[in-house]
Amino acid sequence: MNRPYIICHMVTSIDGKVTGDFLFRPEAEKATEIYYEINRELKCNGFICGRVTMEGSFTGGWYPDLSKYKPVEHDPVCRDYMLDEKDMTGFYAIAFDPKGKLGWKSNRIEDPDGDPGYDGAQIIEVLTEEADKRYLAYLQELDIPYIFAGEKEIDVEVALFKLKSIIGLENILLEGGSVVNGYFQRAGVIDELSLVVSPVIAGGESKPLFDGSIINDFRLNEVKDCGNGVLWTRYKKAE
Ligand SMILES: NC(=O)c1ccc[n+]([C@@H]2O[C@H](COP(=O)([O-])OP(=O)(O)OC[C@H]3O[C@@H](n4cnc5c(N)ncnc54)[C@H](OP(=O)(O)O)[C@@H]3O)[C@@H](O)[C@H]2O)c1
Repeated sequence: MNRPYIICHMVTSIDGKVTGDFLFRPEAEKATEIYYEINRELKCNGFICGRVTMEGSFTGGWYPDLSKYKPVEHDPVCRDYMLDEKDMTGFYAIAFDPKGKLGWKSNRIEDPDGDPGYDGAQIIEVLTEEADKRYLAYLQELDIPYIFAGEKEIDVEVALFKLKSIIGLENILLEGGSVVNGYFQRAGVIDELSLVVSPVIAGGESKPLFDGSIINDFRLNEVKDCGNGVLWTRYKKAE
């Protein structure tokens, strides 16, 4: 395969939603604890999240003052920015951030009070041509590697091809939210679903597992009763 194996790992409600207030109900909090345990057990090379999820979980909406940076003018042949192999950790937090809106303060996820499955992951930004060239200088200053994949929207297949061919990633967790999951589902690159289903019905404002989905077949591989009404369901892409 010319791309990493993708496991979409999410907490869902009974009615297949992934965002909103239901996540803060006690039943869903138990599901979230189980979700983190499974996240660590799956031992992938990293995780991908959309810009909104990264902002909510890790950057909190902070943004650098770009006026102090000079735009980076790239060699038109290769504009991706990588560190030396010795400086790469082998475990990555991959941000799908088309316009370069995320304000990081270092090149690692700093989440000492959060789940240990994320803390220390090395950040990689996936960008499009819409990103401000001064943002590239800011990323370089922080030693944050970045790759380009697309003009306005991120071309998922190009991004995954680069993550495998340049960085060597073999397997990645796709961890939401609904919008980024939808891009992957429409591109047909989700090999496996790992759904931690909490015993709650979400409200109408909650978003589905895949925003803008298309029909796609999966086969059930495993179901595990995790207690407290929580199920872990695993599906594989139908051949
Ligand atoms: N239940 C769970 O397990 C779980 C897991 C993670 C997150 N969540 C929840 O999900 C919510 C956020 O989800 P969301 O659907 O609103 O947002 P999201 O998927 O986290 O992020 C969406 C944004 O990512 C960027 N993006 C991602 N892929 C792209 C592509 N191929 N091309 C262009 N842009 C792309 C765009 O950024 P720009 O807007 O900058 O263009 C887009 O608006 C949070 O509330 C969080 O709590 C739930």
